[in-house]
Amino acid sequence: MKFLAGGLIAVVGMVFCLGASGAGDKKPKYDIKEVMDKAHKTGLWKKVAAGTADEDERKELSELYTALSQNKPPKGELSDWKKVTGALAKAAKAAVKDAAKGKALKKLVNCGGCHKEFK
Ligand code: HEC
Repeated sequence: MKFLAGGLIAVVGMVFCLGASGAGDKKPKYDIKEVMDKAHKTGLWKKVAAGTADEDERKELSELYTALSQNKPPKGELSDWKKVTGALAKAAKAAVKDAAKGKALKKLVNCGGCHKEFK
């Protein structure tokens, strides 16, 4: 009986973990509007591009852009979106380790261009 109960708890625990991580894969941590708010309206991306952001801020931008690339845009080709946002996520990630790499964002963050195509 003790053995059975233990086995049951283990199985339930496993199902719970699988379920939780599965849900995490489907839904990005932030939606597009949240990313626009936290990364763009606040000017966070500019600080990272200028090389003046501290490590926490660089990590935050990296998370925001990673989430951005996991979203679907309201308009435009999903494959193009993946290319554009994938480049942003990659550049922001590189800047976490090396602040000087943030400079690459200056060329990549094109507010109007991206809005015209995907918004
Ligand atoms: C990689 C593409 C991309 C880039 C670059 C981008 N945006 Fe956006 N932005 C979007 C999309 C897509 C939406 C529409 C989101 C929606 O309606 O769900 C949006 C929406 C917005 C909104 C409206 C949010 C709301 O709550 O309705 C603001 C404000 C905004 N962007 C600001 C900016 C600024 C400022 C920049 C440049 C510093 C910028 N964005 C760069 C893709 C981008």
